[in-house]
Amino acid sequence: MAILPIVHWPHRALSTPAAPVEAFDGSLHRLIDDMAETMYAASGVGLAANQVDRLHRVTVMDCAAEDEPSQLLEIVNPEIVGREGTLVWEEGCLSFPGLYNEVKRAARVTVRYRDRNGEACEITGEGLLAVCLQHEIDHLDGVVFIDRLGPLGRRMALKQWKKIEDELARGGVAPGRRSGA
Ligand code: NI
Repeated sequence: MAILPIVHWPHRALSTPAAPVEAFDGSLHRLIDDMAETMYAASGVGLAANQVDRLHRVTVMDCAAEDEPSQLLEIVNPEIVGREGTLVWEEGCLSFPGLYNEVKRAARVTVRYRDRNGEACEITGEGLLAVCLQHEIDHLDGVVFIDRLGPLGRRMALKQWKKIEDELARGGVAPGRRSGA
């Protein structure tokens, strides 16, 4: 397994839709294993393949609370098939380290996907899991969380991100330690 470099905004992969996986083979398994290792190393709760510059519809997430055993989800070719209610959640993203914004999304979603062997699966999540599923599936569609803020909110978030980026370029650390996805 290997830790992969995570790309930051405005890397092109973050605004490019990923292609569906057709072969559930060793190279897919290696990508999933590497993505899980990368996510845990970055203390993230989710990671999409676009964030490691691989344009395949693959995401991993683990939304277990700190005092719970880990619950790694490996999700290939996901599709949201049900949405209910709305919630507002303060989100972070491993491709915008240090940037946090409240985003409005569905409170409960049902997602159909394939596991690493191509078996059909379905999951319904609420709270953090619902947020994470929508955030990661957005990544696979080339959409990032600031795209969900509306034009003014997005502009303000980008201004804030520019400051963080400059600080990172000077060798500083991203503010905040909350987990991103
Ligand atoms: Ni993200």
